[in-house]
Amino acid sequence: MNNFIYHNPTELLFGKGQLSHLTEKARQLGTSVLLVYGGGSIKRSGLYDKVVGLLQEAGCRVHELSGVEPNPRLSTVKKGIEICRQENVEWILAVGGGSVIDAAKAVAVGVPYEGDVWDFYLRTAVPEAALPLGTVLTLAATGSEMNRSSVVTNWETQEKLGASTTFPTFSILDPEHTFTVPRDQTIYGICDMMSHVFEQYFSHTEEIALQTRFAESILKTVIETAERVLANPEDYDARATILYCGTMALNGTLPVGVETDWATHKIEHAVSAVYDIPHGGGLAIIFPKWMRYVYRENVSRFKRFAVEVWGVDPSGKSEEEIALAGIEATEAFFARIGAPTRLADYKIGEEKLPVMAEKATPFGPIGSFKQLTSADVAEILRMCL
Ligand code: NZQ
Ligand code: ZN
Repeated sequence: MNNFIYHNPTELLFGKGQLSHLTEKARQLGTSVLLVYGGGSIKRSGLYDKVVGLLQEAGCRVHELSGVEPNPRLSTVKKGIEICRQENVEWILAVGGGSVIDAAKAVAVGVPYEGDVWDFYLRTAVPEAALPLGTVLTLAATGSEMNRSSVVTNWETQEKLGASTTFPTFSILDPEHTFTVPRDQTIYGICDMMSHVFEQYFSHTEEIALQTRFAESILKTVIETAERVLANPEDYDARATILYCGTMALNGTLPVGVETDWATHKIEHAVSAVYDIPHGGGLAIIFPKWMRYVYRENVSRFKRFAVEVWGVDPSGKSEEEIALAGIEATEAFFARIGAPTRLADYKIGEEKLPVMAEKATPFGPIGSFKQLTSADVAEILRMCL
């Protein structure tokens, strides 16, 4: 196990009715707030009215940044920064999925920064200050509610990049707020959280028994709960389990002391940057192909994955056959829950494949399980066609 420092300051308020704490949180953070939300799902569900009511009860003046896109855009972030500066906003409340939270994080670090907020994503600057940020999560997927990452798309340059920005001060997670998530987005969320575990599980670091079992337990829990959620979107306990899995998959618990990979995420971000496809859908296509491309780097890790996560019976099989059976089980699961399996499902052909391969490696080779050049990425994307 490698050395590590673990720090996560986000306060998590989890469960039915936890939104009632919003008033007391608002009183602590200030009277001028920017409410950030997406394309209207929170208005349709009634959550918008509840949130605004609670903020007003706390005496807040509520300014709004609405219409945050899935795969949030830099232009929208800049609008939010402008509003905050003009209105002397003291804190930000994001109500929505990962896109809304990521945009809000970008606004939070962009306001006190004199330069261009995109600098943080280009890695030419590191955020040193941020407005406080609270979140009300409505979609189980990214873990953004309890980590400091933000992923933003610069549509003009077709770049989708992640940056380390700021942790939410608090996040309210009520499983009932996820009841209205449409079937496709529920599936994408499941694929995304499983992919987060994969990125941190396929590692060459030795003696990481606890991290390994944490990862496997999240995967097994997601696998056994996924079909329950899809069969009954208002099953509170199933939604709660998936919601908690999404948070735990990317809140810093799994990577401590472990060399993690993240190449597949960079490949998916490149595909989304060019074709604007849903993140979890892209991952469902790319991850099994990445697995096939790299498993020989550490066959025994893939063998363990097959046996522990998918229950592959190892008897009578070679190590390689067991490893491949685990990859097949992953593919079969994604297909069974209704995730896309090929880039063709998004009408993506080979035309822009070299462009995407370059965009996936803007700072050089990616990944650590196997370092991938843009030529490797092109090969993996070709397998996804
Ligand atoms: O915009 P609205 O109207 O709110 O609708 C959204 C959106 O259309 C809808 N939705 C969300 N909650 C709902 C709901 N519809 C009905 N009822 C609800 N309760 O779902 C659609 C997708 O929302 P989005 O926020 O885009 O989904 P997700 O949470 O999957 O976020 C994806 C974004 O997060 C980034 C991705 O790259 C992508 O840009 N990621 C962020 C990470 C992080 N910050 O740590 C890590 C991830 O790996 C990922 O890269
Ligand atoms: Zn992801």
